[in-house]
Amino acid sequence: MKTYEIKVLGTGMYAPKKIVTNVDLESIVETNDQWIYERTGIRQRHISSTEGGEFPTDMAYHATIDALKAANIEANDIDLILFGSCTPDVKLPNSASILQVKLGMTNNCACLDIAAACSGFVYGFNMATAMIQTGMIKKALIVGSEMLSREVNWKDRNSCILFGDGCGVAIIGRAEEGSESKVYSSVLTADGTGGEFFDQPIGGAVTPLTASHIEEGSHFMQMKGKEMFKVATRTLAENAQKVITEAGLSLEDIDWVVPHQANIRIIETTAKLIGIDMDKMIVNIQNYGNTSAATVPIAFHEAIVEGKIKRGDIVLFDAFGAGLTAGATLLKY
Ligand SMILES: CC(C)(COP(=O)(O)OP(=O)(O)OC[C@H]1O[C@@H](n2cnc3c(N)ncnc32)[C@H](O)[C@@H]1OP(=O)(O)O)[C@@H](O)C(=O)NCCC(=O)NCCS
Repeated sequence: MKTYEIKVLGTGMYAPKKIVTNVDLESIVETNDQWIYERTGIRQRHISSTEGGEFPTDMAYHATIDALKAANIEANDIDLILFGSCTPDVKLPNSASILQVKLGMTNNCACLDIAAACSGFVYGFNMATAMIQTGMIKKALIVGSEMLSREVNWKDRNSCILFGDGCGVAIIGRAEEGSESKVYSSVLTADGTGGEFFDQPIGGAVTPLTASHIEEGSHFMQMKGKEMFKVATRTLAENAQKVITEAGLSLEDIDWVVPHQANIRIIETTAKLIGIDMDKMIVNIQNYGNTSAATVPIAFHEAIVEGKIKRGDIVLFDAFGAGLTAGATLLKY
């Protein structure tokens, strides 16, 4: 069977206009800028307007328009939209289909949401890669877009300080003849036994949302931070090593790692475990906090725009999230 190489054709991002600093949070929960910065590396996060215009598919629309320009293609050239989010606009229809309409697409392309929490973008990237490599489709739009501010408990200082809203996207397609761009290797994993470390059990088929849940505040996301921390570092390091080994490359070959931005200490520990210099880790958690599925594509896009990641660089995506899902991708940009 003929297979095709992959090229990242364009990227984009959207960050909500409203910025909430650590100091702003001091008036919401008992916390302080120093604690948050020292324990997490976060200085501020962006928070979507609840009035409209910055819901997950709105942010995805803006980010995609920029990515289409960068890729120099039309929306109707896209064969597949994979939308990673754990905070979709609505339960039905899926966010990918809503985005298709917002983009004015008329080609009836395939639309699927990916519920893999913080790993959603990398899950989508690897799945779309396989579909392009085998010739099933030519171009895919992969989105990570989240409005976590709706789902965190703003009375719980253990979790609300960590998260932010935002969106990042990438359009990938067949690499043209003579292009060096490619995906070397990829891995997707999950360990469902750790599901309780980060969950939101209220509001689904088992326990539909009631007024008393809202009164108690039990319907929000709940996280066991310490447990997540330990598994995250181990898994991120293991998956990074897996894709590097599978590609037959060495650590010295890697130009950049784009890790999930959950905590600067997770990123530092992961770098140590992999054995890679912190200078090669793309870090922007200070500006956005943890935007779940959006962290990797936002960090990737910013690094491209800032001129850090250049054509020909070897880049490693490394994500981990609730589920416990995880994924890594090793590619030549
Ligand atoms: C949440 C996290 C920042 C907490 O950091 P930590 O160093 O483990 O902190 P602890 O939970 O041990 O808390 C230390 C103390 O600070 C307090 N504290 C917790 N949140 C606080 C806050 N926002 N401000 C001030 N103090 C806070 C705790 O109550 C505790 O006080 P105590 O010692 O009197 O009990 C960290 O565990 C983390 O980032 N975990 C992973 C998060 C993650 O991975 N999320 C998603 C992955 S996809």
